[in-house]
Amino acid sequence: MNKVIVITGGTSGIGLACAKYLISKNYQVIITGRNQESLQKALNELGEKAAGYVSDTSILSDIDTLVNQIKENHGTIDGLFVNAGIFKSISFEDTNEVLFDETMNINFKGAFFTVQKFIPLLKNPSSVVLNTSIAVFKAFPNASIYSASKAALEAIAKVLNLELAQKGIRVNVVSPGVTHTPIQKKSGMTDEAIDGLLQHFSETSPIGRVVLPEDIAPVVEFLVSDNSLVLRNEKIVVDGGSTL
Ligand SMILES: NC(=O)c1ccc[n+]([C@@H]2O[C@H](COP(=O)([O-])OP(=O)(O)OC[C@H]3O[C@@H](n4cnc5c(N)ncnc54)[C@H](OP(=O)(O)O)[C@@H]3O)[C@@H](O)[C@H]2O)c1
Repeated sequence: MNKVIVITGGTSGIGLACAKYLISKNYQVIITGRNQESLQKALNELGEKAAGYVSDTSILSDIDTLVNQIKENHGTIDGLFVNAGIFKSISFEDTNEVLFDETMNINFKGAFFTVQKFIPLLKNPSSVVLNTSIAVFKAFPNASIYSASKAALEAIAKVLNLELAQKGIRVNVVSPGVTHTPIQKKSGMTDEAIDGLLQHFSETSPIGRVVLPEDIAPVVEFLVSDNSLVLRNEKIVVDGGSTL
């Protein structure tokens, strides 16, 4: 039987690349996104091996609805890639409560309750993969709340591995470096600033180019596959060596 993997935020960037890769490896993939239009566009690209649901990860009742829909239409699942996330480029001094809450509600609170609410659907054994960031251990200006949201997410992986062990659920982390995706444009950075960031990482990284979503996908596939059955709280940094 093909494994069934849920990817939150599968309409774009890393989530979409993972969905494509997993489908190419015969997984059945279920993606989520916030709006019907981008969800449908992604589903058209992915073809009939993918299903998708509109669900805002920062709204707990949306997660409940999503879990019920997946239970009804697909049954239990083998893996959950907690990927939905945002980045807003904003200085510490300018970060207001609205931006603070938006980032924490999507990147941490939403991720926290997504894992919690999917527990009844996760098989024994199954795999949860949390998408964090090198921003947890490397400082980037204008990323204080983003770094904190991802650090919080990484912190729960340890605890979940103890609490969910009896259910056969393992939790590991993928920590991408600066990856060229639509997230930069959505962050409020200028085109010039984005070009500068990507150029800096292309020039200084040992791989001589910026990381692409397609670089992350095989790592996520490993973490949801049986090849990683004994891994617990492992963090795989996928950054082309840019933080060495
Ligand atoms: N790109 C990087 O440099 C980088 C580095 C490290 C970590 N990451 C992490 O990788 C993950 C994916 O980012 P990306 O770079 O692929 O960005 P992206 O292209 O903007 O993709 C983000 C995805 O998350 C979804 N999303 C955002 N808010 C959501 C919400 N409230 N509910 C449901 N879905 C939501 C988006 O869907 P819609 O907008 O269509 O609703 C989209 O599918 C994020 O967690 C990000 O923090 C990225």
